[in-house]
Amino acid sequence: MDGAATLAFLDGCGTTSPCGLSPARRPPYPAAVVQRLPMVLAEALSRYPRTRLTEGPTPLQRLRRVEAALGSALNGVQLYGKRDDLMGLGGGGSKLRKLEMLLGDAAAKGADVIVATGGRQSNSLRLTAAACAREGLACELVLAPAAPDADGDFRENGNALLDPLFGATVHQVPAGMGAAEFARTRIDALSAQGRTPYLTPAGASSSLSALGYARCALELDAQLAELGLDEPVIVTANGSFGTQAGLLAGFRILDRPQRIHGFTILAAADDCRQGTQAMANDALALLDSPTRLGPDEVQIFEEQRGEGYGRVTAEALAAIRLMASHEGLLLDPVYSGKAFAGVLDHARTGRYRPGAAVVFLMTGGSPALFAYRQALAPQPV
Ligand SMILES: Cc1ncc(COP(=O)(O)O)c(C=O)c1O
Repeated sequence: MDGAATLAFLDGCGTTSPCGLSPARRPPYPAAVVQRLPMVLAEALSRYPRTRLTEGPTPLQRLRRVEAALGSALNGVQLYGKRDDLMGLGGGGSKLRKLEMLLGDAAAKGADVIVATGGRQSNSLRLTAAACAREGLACELVLAPAAPDADGDFRENGNALLDPLFGATVHQVPAGMGAAEFARTRIDALSAQGRTPYLTPAGASSSLSALGYARCALELDAQLAELGLDEPVIVTANGSFGTQAGLLAGFRILDRPQRIHGFTILAAADDCRQGTQAMANDALALLDSPTRLGPDEVQIFEEQRGEGYGRVTAEALAAIRLMASHEGLLLDPVYSGKAFAGVLDHARTGRYRPGAAVVFLMTGGSPALFAYRQALAPQPV
């Protein structure tokens, strides 16, 4: 069965297909179709321009010392870290996979300056600045004001320290103006100067950039097959939807029954689910897939959000300390620390099937640790 025949076959078996069955209930695809699916996904991805910012597959590693610390509560659950924090550019992190697609698009459109908006401790902005440095592109970052109670470390250390080091021009939004509005004024001014600006989406997330994580699904699928892990749970932090949406789209095309759990750190669960579902389905459309995800296929957990975005929780601090002291690995206080706190909670409370494999996506963000110095400082004994 060639690529066209595979797509034609799938066309008859999508979620809203004449088959009339959800993927969970419809009969499995024939082996000839299943074998073709990685190639179908790879071919669909290759139609979009990509600027290489990553070096190759990131490792998938067993977290044996965290497993030992959890002891019998784990019920035989195996924990793995997918090391997307381990990338060479700009300190690494998940945003590079998404930026590969955005900068590919920007290059195809002849852009010579990238404009991006975000918070002062945005990992996305840091990596946009680093990627622009690598590609020889000008970079303008528009920083939303920090919360009034933010301390000096938050305002000036961590990611905020690194952005100008990568050569980005950093704009503070004037009082009374939103970051998006200010960015538009920069786009207009740059265009009037004869430049070709390219505005990246908030959090570097869009259906196009989510394709970077559909590519990650392809990569992870091969690693899981090598380890003989058939039905793992894959866990990620969810901020602006793109990471989870891309994984959902990629694994849907691969027809793998993986369950992908997202711990929202920003939006309320329903909004996060809707946004993620819409982005995943738009990504499926970009990949010419006839299938679509229903709302019940997007699993979002809200319980680690705490008081809101950027507000570190006691559970996240404990998770960061456990990972650092038992594995020598760094999480971040805003995203992966909260998501890993969720993994620990689900493991301790028996939410994972005994013996299941749980793959935690390590999305990077460790520079932000330095912006949260006071929260992380050892407590006096
Ligand atoms: C370290 C880290 N992890 C996870 C995320 C969440 O990814 P997404 O915005 O694609 O949901 C982000 C987003 O900024 C991040 O910086």
